[in-house]
Amino acid sequence: MARAALLSIPLFLLCLALASRADAARKTVGVYELKSKKGDFSIKVTNWGATLMSVIVPDSKGNLADVVLGYDTLAQYVDPSSAFGTVVGRVANRIANGTFVLDGKTIRLNKDGTTVLHGGHRGFNRVIWTVKEYVPGGDSPYITLYYHSFDREQGFPGDLDVYVTYQLCGPYELSARMNATALSKATPVNLANHAYWNLGGHGSGDVLGEVIQVFASRYTPVDGSMIPTGEVAPVSGTPYDLRAPTRLGSRIGLVSGAGMAGFDINYAVDGEGFRRVACLRDPASGRALELWADQPGMQLYTSNWLSNVKGKGGKVYGQYGAVCLETQHYPDAVNHPNFPSEIVRPGGMAYKHDMLFKFSF
Ligand SMILES: *[C@@H]1O[C@H](CO)[C@@H](O)[C@H](O)[C@H]1NC(C)=O
Ligand SMILES: *[C@@H]1O[C@H](CO)[C@@H](O)[C@H](O)[C@H]1NC(C)=O
Repeated sequence: MARAALLSIPLFLLCLALASRADAARKTVGVYELKSKKGDFSIKVTNWGATLMSVIVPDSKGNLADVVLGYDTLAQYVDPSSAFGTVVGRVANRIANGTFVLDGKTIRLNKDGTTVLHGGHRGFNRVIWTVKEYVPGGDSPYITLYYHSFDREQGFPGDLDVYVTYQLCGPYELSARMNATALSKATPVNLANHAYWNLGGHGSGDVLGEVIQVFASRYTPVDGSMIPTGEVAPVSGTPYDLRAPTRLGSRIGLVSGAGMAGFDINYAVDGEGFRRVACLRDPASGRALELWADQPGMQLYTSNWLSNVKGKGGKVYGQYGAVCLETQHYPDAVNHPNFPSEIVRPGGMAYKHDMLFKFSF
């Protein structure tokens, strides 16, 4: 007995050591760069949270700027308060009370507070993804990341295979393509890229001077806890009407108050399929971004609660330091039968989400 016990302890420890070593080899967190042949357009990605760490774009004078907020070190990305550039999921945005009914069954998600935001406290933005393919050279360099989400992860039903590909395609065009396949149970899926854009360059000040246009004639109003009321209301006659190019600063005060400090709202994007969703332009640098995507909605967030965050190159990010253009399903769609469904089923259509960011200057 005593002998067996003595033997079993070191064996158990050895197994642990081997397991963690194999895991480390498969899942090392690294930084991967994609660069255009001309060299003046590049991005950096890490497989921690499938995160877009930097996007470097020229202006008309050839000045390069990194137009997304982020951190210098991977350690800072691991900080739970950060979502800069990450892919959020399994369900981006809010789920009221962290609960919903699916096929007659009540699903309760792991939750800290009353709502579950961005897939829970350890969503897809806080896990290590596997680098499936990395092709840094050629005309259209790309990287494909993979994550296997297990049954009941953060409370979500069923195993799920998830892929995200970032690719430089065309001159000054970045595509982000995501898909997910339900393997064992029906589940909601709603992935979103959470890049914080500042076309003047990250840390160059606020984005209130940037001009936005959102191709949406309706939006989903929210209650006091940021949960959609269920209404899909016309933007016409409200400060949310951004169908014509509008300086963000001219509206920020009008959409503030009652717990709001700027834009944090979902737009029901006009049309269907892959279409133009929004344009953002920085008159000071002349840089512009046109976003195309195939999702029903886009959450517009103006970094209302960003405050004194130490970012890349010693820059400090404050309120309105960036704008997020999160194409996705409508928030809390699982609790609103009148919203487009985000349920994916085994053997059925896979979840797909394509985004294209076209830069000009
Ligand atoms: C969430 O809980 C509140 C009260 O606790 C309730 O009024 C509301 O209907 C719930 N919402 C959902 C979607 O379950
Ligand atoms: C998801 O993307 C990966 C990587 O591009 C691809 O190999 C796979 O076929 C895609 N799956 C579906 C269901 O589209």
